[in-house]
Amino acid sequence: MKFEKPNSIVISGTGSYLPKKVLTNFDLEKFLDTSDEWIFGRSGIKARHIAADGEAVSDMACVAASRALEDAGLDASSMDLVIVTTVNPDMLFPSTACLLQAKLGIRNNIPCFDLEAACSGFVYGVEVATRMMQSGLYKNALVVSSEKMSSMVNWKDRATCVLFGDGAGAVVLSASSDENTGIIGTVLGADGSDTAMLRLPAGGSAMPTSEETVRQGLHFLQMDGREVFKHAVKIMQEKALEVLDLCGISADKLSLLIPHQANTRIIESVAKRLKIPSEKVYVNIENYGNTSSASIPIAIDEAARSGRIKKGDYVLFVAFGAGLTWGATLAKWDK
Ligand code: UT7
Repeated sequence: MKFEKPNSIVISGTGSYLPKKVLTNFDLEKFLDTSDEWIFGRSGIKARHIAADGEAVSDMACVAASRALEDAGLDASSMDLVIVTTVNPDMLFPSTACLLQAKLGIRNNIPCFDLEAACSGFVYGVEVATRMMQSGLYKNALVVSSEKMSSMVNWKDRATCVLFGDGAGAVVLSASSDENTGIIGTVLGADGSDTAMLRLPAGGSAMPTSEETVRQGLHFLQMDGREVFKHAVKIMQEKALEVLDLCGISADKLSLLIPHQANTRIIESVAKRLKIPSEKVYVNIENYGNTSSASIPIAIDEAARSGRIKKGDYVLFVAFGAGLTWGATLAKWDK
């Protein structure tokens, strides 16, 4: 087999999609014992987008992916690999990546698969795609993170439902002959010793859906917010520093930090630890809430399109989520 190994893997296109419907904190006040003051003060969230009935994760993924392909100037048929990251796939199988392949009209029999690492999914997805592409076998890949969190939260549980939102973000990764650019380095990790901190217990093989699981509300997301918060602060700080160290780049060389958007207080703690000023930190949680794995690629797309990232800039993505899982990637922007 003849194949050429690339010198780097670059982000050649970005795209995102937010559903039309916006649910503000004031809307939530109408049916929940909560307030804009509490939600904004504790999390930094003002509003979130909610997918329409019948609008599936693959539908949102398709729009974000199409926008990323257009941005890259590439046709869907030139993709060699599709990875979708999500915690709420259209169905348990087939994978949302296969459903997306069909929706994008990709007729080539390329590998398409889902990857589940909760909110860290995008960082995991980029690392898996990058490593596969470094073999030289795949020249262009789509990594699409799409989430319909509104379908798995209990709208009567004020401790969780106010925090999440729906949306999708996508990147096209391309093999490049240029050196020292694109994805520079990544650290990934997980700790499965306390999965009850953040989970959705029913609907899998351990607890198949039954009248009883539905009656007990076990098909809804459960979270011990305070515990998750403590771990998120510690791990995101550590992993951001670790990937910088791995790549031999100091934090002051960063042009933009793009953290997972779970809570402004968590984001501020990471920025403080890295001694990065707020203007170098991308925050959009106010408008979207926590969109799980989609939060980083949505932010990347917005930052790139609004000129916040320029060619040659060092950008750091850092995520944390259920599992627990985490990941951080340093990239040198090449567009
Ligand atoms: O992306 C995955 C990772 N997820 C995260 O990173 C989320 C991490 N956790 C957090 O962001 C924060 O823990 C929350 C925003 C979820 C909560 O903030 P907190 O400061 O940790 O509040 P708390 O959970 O300790 O709750 C404080 C109080 C409680 O009342 P008592 O027990 O002190 O009387 C809650 O019942 O706030 C109450 N509360 C609310 N009040 C009004 C909880 N939810 C609400 C609400 N509105 N929506």
